[in-house]
Parts: sequence; C-alpha cells; structure tokens
Amino acid sequence: MGKVFGITSGKGGVGKSTVSVGLALAFADLGEKVLLVDMDEGLRCLDLMLNVDKTAVFDLSDVLSGTDLNDAIYPSPLNENISLIPAPSRVGLVDAFELAKLAERVKDMFDTVIFDFPAGIDFTFYGSLPKGTLYITVAVPDPVSVRDAAAVSMRLTEMELASRLIINRFRHSSSRKYKAKNIDEIIDNSSIRLLGLIPESEDLQMFSLCHRLSRRSRAFKAFRRIAQRLKGENVLLPKLKKI
Ligand SMILES: Nc1ncnc2c1ncn2[C@@H]1O[C@H](COP(=O)(O)OP(=O)(O)O)[C@@H](O)[C@H]1O
Ligand SMILES: [Mg+2]
Repeated sequence: MGKVFGITSGKGGVGKSTVSVGLALAFADLGEKVLLVDMDEGLRCLDLMLNVDKTAVFDLSDVLSGTDLNDAIYPSPLNENISLIPAPSRVGLVDAFELAKLAERVKDMFDTVIFDFPAGIDFTFYGSLPKGTLYITVAVPDPVSVRDAAAVSMRLTEMELASRLIINRFRHSSSRKYKAKNIDEIIDNSSIRLLGLIPESEDLQMFSLCHRLSRRSRAFKAFRRIAQRLKGENVLLPKLKKI
C-alpha cells in the first residue's frame, strides 16, 4: 500500500505543482513508482510539466465517470517511474465519493500518490483521500502566504487531517537581509511542523520549458531530503546558506 500526499496552499502560485513534480522526481529517483493526480480543475498544468499534454486524451473526470483507469494514467516521458492522471479541463466534474474510491484503488497500485490540489480553502475533496494521507501545505517566505498556509493547516487540523509545511522559493540572501522576518519567525507564525525548504531556483522556474532538473542541483537535493524524511529517515536541515 502506497503513501498518499495532498499538496495544498492558501495563496495561489506559491509552487504547489512545482513541489508536486519535484517530490515525484525525488521519490522516483529513490526507485519508487509515483502517480500524480492533477486536481486543479480548469487550470491544469501537470500535463505540461510532465510532457504528456500532447498524448493525454482522458482525464480525472473521465475516470470518475467510468473510463478504464489504465486508459487515463499517462506515463511521463521524463521519468519511467512517474505517471499522471490529468485534471479535467472544466470545473465541477469531480465527485467526492467517486474520488474516494479512485484514491483507494491507486494507493494499492503505486508506492507514492501525490494529489496536487487547487489553492484556497475549498475543502470539498480533502476528506476523500484515504486515511493516513499527509497534507503538505506550501507557502513562500512572506507573512501573507504563511498566514494563509496557517489558516489551511488549522482547517485540516479541525478535520483531524495531518499536515506539514514546505517553504518554497527560499533565498538565504533575503532571509539575512530582512532579519525581522527571518525563517524561524515565519515558521513559528505558521504553527505547522516544517518538512523542508525548497530554494528559489531558475531550474524550477524553467522546468515546464526544459523538463529537466539535475540531480546535482540544490533544488533536487532539497526535494530528495524531503522525500527521505517522508520515508521516515532522519535527514537534518543543512545550513541555511547551503539550501
Ligand atoms: N522554487 C522555485 N524557484 C523558482 N520558481 C519557482 C519555484 N517554485 C515555483 N516557481 C514558479 O512559480 C510559478 C508558480 O508555480 P506553480 O507550481 O505553478 O504554483 P501553484 O501550483 O501553487 O499555482 C511557476 O512559474 C513556477 O515555475
Ligand atoms: Mg498548480
């Protein structure tokens, strides 16, 4: 039975899809079979990032309304261990009950399943994921984003769902310059347990175009540390200037 993660955020554009793909790459590199499910109805992007946009015919809404699951799971040409179920191109086509059944099925087919949720506080589908799902809330290092992440986390806690925080687009130089809003303060304000920091990275910014992330890049190493932590290893945070 695989691990299931729901990637979420308060504010949009903080890097949920980027984090979803980065984590998928890291788990795949550790030898796992990974499924990404794009939940961003109407605003899909993982098909582009994983380079399956030209081949994809079916999407999540088709599977939920009876299309054979295997026909809507698209292996990514970027990595043989990563597959995608694309998001519906229109909103309102996902049924929470059918989604719950699908999530249980795919959990048994893959080592890791990552649901990339839309931003915001519509929690309709959060209860649909299997018991034991870990929700990963992504924020960027600014107080507004972190406060929004804290709001999401609080709601998840009320629903008795576990959540952790990833701070994306971290820049050591800025965190030194603006000492008043240093990373510790940001994390303390969020009251969510920190899973890891992902650096600001040109490789990640360009990923949808280049479809490449070197295993030697800081960004990849950051995702690998997080994937190892999620597999239960005790991987310490490196010195902030090395992130
Ligand atoms: N760590 C990062 N470094 C540089 N650019 C990033 C990073 N994370 C995300 N981005 C860029 O930010 C934009 C929004 O990211 P995306 O993953 O689509 O956010 P979301 O899914 O939360 O809307 C994209 O252009 C992406 O390339
Ligand atoms: Mg997204």
